[in-house]
Amino acid sequence: MAPIALITGASQGIGYSTALLFARKGYDLVLAARQPDRLSAVAQEVQALGRAALAVPTDVRDAEQVKALIHQALNHYGFIDVLINNAGIYISGPVEEFSLSDWHQAIDTNLWGYIHTIQALLPHFIARGSGTIVNVSSIGGKVPIPYLTPYSTSKFAVTGLTEALHSELLPKGIHVCGIYPNLIDSNFMERAIFRGKDERDTQARRDQVNQVLKVPVVEKPEDVAQAIWDGVEHKRDEVIVGSANLSVAANRAFPSLMQWVFRKTFKLKDQH
Ligand SMILES: NC(=O)c1ccc[n+]([C@@H]2O[C@H](COP(=O)([O-])OP(=O)(O)OC[C@H]3O[C@@H](n4cnc5c(N)ncnc54)[C@H](OP(=O)(O)O)[C@@H]3O)[C@@H](O)[C@H]2O)c1
Repeated sequence: MAPIALITGASQGIGYSTALLFARKGYDLVLAARQPDRLSAVAQEVQALGRAALAVPTDVRDAEQVKALIHQALNHYGFIDVLINNAGIYISGPVEEFSLSDWHQAIDTNLWGYIHTIQALLPHFIARGSGTIVNVSSIGGKVPIPYLTPYSTSKFAVTGLTEALHSELLPKGIHVCGIYPNLIDSNFMERAIFRGKDERDTQARRDQVNQVLKVPVVEKPEDVAQAIWDGVEHKRDEVIVGSANLSVAANRAFPSLMQWVFRKTFKLKDQH
């Protein structure tokens, strides 16, 4: 019987690449994201690779929808081996420009979305005495990044969630792994939230990220998919992806300098 992986945010970007990689490695899949058409298209690609795929349109911010997702997945396959928490959004700007609703978008998707799946699936993993939970965090969950405060808040929380779960669940046969990518050329700009002092500042922030994404050394969703595979296959507690290793090391060695560089880079019109 093929192993089963459930991937959130599977319709695009890192989740999409991870779905195809896991299918090639012999996994059958449960795919979750909000937009049904895109999700069905990914399910068809997985099926074309000779693997089964169950597409379940789900908003991970809604605990009831996530419960229904897990229920449907377990009814369909009977078991799940790997949970890959990946659905997330990017949010950037001066902290005073974010509304409470912006904060909720970030925390509800990037943190609560992960908690909802873990809460719903953990009893199954504990009953089996096995299972793997992968949480896609970010370099922003290891290194504080000014002008990404709600994002960094959500990702630091995911790091804490991952590390505490790793320690607690290890003796119960459940493996927990955190993934820490740098900026990745995925589809995140489609749903990214930018805020600024005014419209020009907001647009400049958007343009700045678009410019950086054109730099050829920026890593691709396939690189993160490979890191996730590596984490699952070799039972790693964390995988820091490619260039993110450099950022973590630089921040450890020269924290003030790194924070100065970040502030300079992201300040734009936010002058005081
Ligand atoms: N790209 C980067 O630079 C980068 C760097 C470090 C970490 N990451 C992390 O990697 C993960 C994936 O990001 P990505 O870059 O691949 O983003 P992406 O290309 O924008 O893909 C995001 C995926 O998540 C789904 N999604 C978003 N909100 C959702 C919700 N409320 N419920 C269910 N699904 C939802 C989207 O589909 P629908 O819109 O149809 O729901 C889509 O499938 C995120 O956790 C992100 O924080 C990304």
